[in-house]
Amino acid sequence: MLVKIYGAGSIGNHLANASKALGWDVDVYDIDPKALERMQYEIYPTRYGNWDKSIGLYENKELRKKEYDYIFIGTPPDTHAELLLNSLKENPKGILVEKPLCRPEKSEIEKLSNIENSKIPIFVGYDHVVSQSINKLKQLIVDGKIGKVLTIDVDFRENWSGIFDAHPWLDGPSDTYLGYWEKGGGASGEHSHALNLWQYLSIISNAGKVKKIDSMIDYVRDNKIFYDKLCMMHLETESGLKGRVVQDVITNPSKKTAIVQGDKGRLEWICHFEKNNDRVILYNKDKNSEVFNFYKKRPDDFICELKHIDSCIKNSKDSPIEFSFGLNTMKLLNIIHQQHQS
Ligand SMILES: NC(=O)c1ccc[n+]([C@@H]2O[C@H](COP(=O)([O-])OP(=O)(O)OC[C@H]3O[C@@H](n4cnc5c(N)ncnc54)[C@H](O)[C@@H]3O)[C@@H](O)[C@H]2O)c1
Repeated sequence: MLVKIYGAGSIGNHLANASKALGWDVDVYDIDPKALERMQYEIYPTRYGNWDKSIGLYENKELRKKEYDYIFIGTPPDTHAELLLNSLKENPKGILVEKPLCRPEKSEIEKLSNIENSKIPIFVGYDHVVSQSINKLKQLIVDGKIGKVLTIDVDFRENWSGIFDAHPWLDGPSDTYLGYWEKGGGASGEHSHALNLWQYLSIISNAGKVKKIDSMIDYVRDNKIFYDKLCMMHLETESGLKGRVVQDVITNPSKKTAIVQGDKGRLEWICHFEKNNDRVILYNKDKNSEVFNFYKKRPDDFICELKHIDSCIKNSKDSPIEFSFGLNTMKLLNIIHQQHQS
């Protein structure tokens, strides 16, 4: 398999490392030669031990005329739509676009809606949804362990100091898309894993798609930046199930959890409940609990995600990270910001 990755930044390194772990050949492209240098000499060796000389590094202007099997787009969200539309023209076997799919902007979302039925499988990088721990959570819901699902609550609350620690070359939010909600940054874009996970949990709970949403958003604005540091959403689905999502870039230490309450018990998912461990807890009505732990290291998240994508493509299977789910998340983000801007 031959893979092209756009973006030599944080996620580009993870996707390159995961691709190599699966035995694939990798070329990475970036518009910034300094980013390619940083990948080779800093990020990759620091994270994974040493640089893998077989990885090709190129500036976009040196784009090779090769037939890539998979194309992964790991650039800032405001570049995703254009790169995705151009990548489709290359007719690869599959495309992964990082989350959030695009800017939370109506015309961009409409443009991407036109490719929803593309023959080429497209995935959006909400990797938590395909993690082992969320798979377990799903299985327990589907097996009826908590009965009929009554409400769902998802939090992705994480101060973005961690992100800036992983990007020491950035001075702060104004240096990147993170400082601008309109570019797909802020808490609503960066932590949209939570909204996406809520949507997924409502589908597997047979509650249907989100029908109503409202929000309270705390924006931060000065002459440079304009982002949301806190984004709280209330949701209602087609079946009338109601619940809540909170995303912020404030909370420290971070809290990433999902609670699914049923009429026979409750499930809790705790991401990183301790270093390298995710946890799922099943409580029955008598408060007896069963605990399931999932050991993983950060690179495993992306190996797991790429294995999932590869298997879906090779076996023509549906996926909870396929394009339409990521697109629906963007539609909701567009609605909540529109509510506030008007
Ligand atoms: N799934 C996850 O857990 C996860 C984790 C980290 C980042 N992400 C997502 O990945 C995306 C990138 O984040 P990051 O932290 O890697 O950013 P980053 O700033 O570290 O890297 C982005 C790189 O893309 C390059 N770039 C910009 N435009 C380009 C273009 N047109 N062609 C090629 N390269 C281009 C930049 O020069 C930069 O080197 C974001 O959408 C982010 O939300 C997802």
